[in-house]
Amino acid sequence: MTTTLLTGIGLLATQDPELGELTDAALAIEDDRIAWIGPAAGAPAADSAVDLDGRCVLPGFVDSHAHLVFAGDRAAEFAARMTGQPYTAGGIRSTVAATRAASDEQLRANLARLAAELRAAGVTTFECKSGYGLDVDTERRSVRIAAEQTPEVTFLGAHVVPAGIERSDYLDLVCGPMLAACAEHARWVDVFCERGAFDVSESRAVLRAGIAAGLQPRIHANQLTAGGGVALAVELDAASADHCTHLSAADVDALAGSDTVATLLPLVEFSTRSPYPDARGLLDAGATVALATDCNPGSGFSTSMPLAIALAVREMRMSPAEAVFAATAGGAKALRRNDIGRLAVGLRADLIALDAPGYLHLAYRPGVPLVSRMWQAGTDVALG
Ligand code: NIG
Ligand code: FE
Repeated sequence: MTTTLLTGIGLLATQDPELGELTDAALAIEDDRIAWIGPAAGAPAADSAVDLDGRCVLPGFVDSHAHLVFAGDRAAEFAARMTGQPYTAGGIRSTVAATRAASDEQLRANLARLAAELRAAGVTTFECKSGYGLDVDTERRSVRIAAEQTPEVTFLGAHVVPAGIERSDYLDLVCGPMLAACAEHARWVDVFCERGAFDVSESRAVLRAGIAAGLQPRIHANQLTAGGGVALAVELDAASADHCTHLSAADVDALAGSDTVATLLPLVEFSTRSPYPDARGLLDAGATVALATDCNPGSGFSTSMPLAIALAVREMRMSPAEAVFAATAGGAKALRRNDIGRLAVGLRADLIALDAPGYLHLAYRPGVPLVSRMWQAGTDVALG
C-alpha cells in the first residue's frame, strides 16, 4: 500500500453533493482510491506529499462521447462548411473508406494520439465508438482496438448505411452478424437516429438487438432535426441521449422525468456553425446534463473538454459550476458509473489540478491549456 498526500489545494471542487467545495484543502490517495479529504491543517501522514501551491483540483473529466477509431481527416469538408455548406450525415462515408483501408497499427496509433490529447486536456475516462468500419471485419477491428484503451466501448454499426448495400440488408447485418462479432468487446450500443441515417423504428430495432446481446443503449438523438430520438432514448432507459440540439418541450420534460442524461456536445455546434442546444431549458426542468467532446473527423475534431466547458458557459449560459459538474459527474452518470466523476472517500483517485486558483478560469481563459497535473487511478500521469 502506498499513500500520497496532495496538499496546498486552493480550491477542491469535489462535485460530490455532500462535500461540495473546500478551500485550503488536502486529499490523500491510497493505491488507486481516495482515502481522505479535508482541511489541509488536519491532513494525515503519508508516504509522500505533493504541494499544489494553491491550485484548483477537480475530478478528471469524463468524456462520455467520442469517435476515435478512424483514419484520414475531413479538413476540406470543414473548409467548405465555413464558406456555407451545411453539415450532413453523408460525410461519414468518406471516413469509412479511409478506415477500411487502414491497418490495425494505423488505427491504433491514431487512437493513441487522440487518447494522449484527451489526457492532456484533463480527461481521465473516455468513451470510444466504432462506426467508421460499417462492415463486419472493420467494425470488429474497431471495437477490439478501442477496448485496448478504454472499458467504455460503444458499438455504432448503425452510424449510416454504407455504399453498396441495401438498407434492409445492412440493418440485418448490424443486428445479426456484425453485432455478434462486436458484442464481446463493447459495453454499449448506439445508433445515429437522424434524417439521412436511421429512423426511429430502425433505431429501436438496432438498440433492442444490442440489449438482447447484453449491451446497454445510448443514442445520437435530435442533432440535426427534432425527430423522435430523445423519446426513444427515454423509452428504452438509455444511459444518455446525445446532441439534443433540437428539442421539443415534450423532449425536455421526458428527459427531466427520466434517468437518461442529456449529453450536450458544443464543440460540434462550434465546428458546424450551428445553434447551441438549450442547456438552460434542460437544467431548469431538472434534467441531468453532461458535456462531452464528440471528437470525430467530421462534425467536430477537438479533444478539448476545457473548450467545451468554455462554450457551455459563454454560448449556452451554463454557470461555470454547472459546466464543470456536467463534464465530470454528468459524464459519469451518462456512462452509469458511480466510481468516477466526483471526489469522495473510496472512489477512484482520478483527479486533475489546474494552473489556476479556480475552475472559473476554464471559461475565463478559453483555449489556454490549464490542466497541469493528473492522477489516474492514483498514479501521477505525465501530460503531453
Ligand atoms: O456525433 N452524428 C453522428 N456522428 C458524429 C459525426 C460523424 C461524422 O460526421 O463523421 C457526430 O456528430
Ligand atoms: Fe457522435
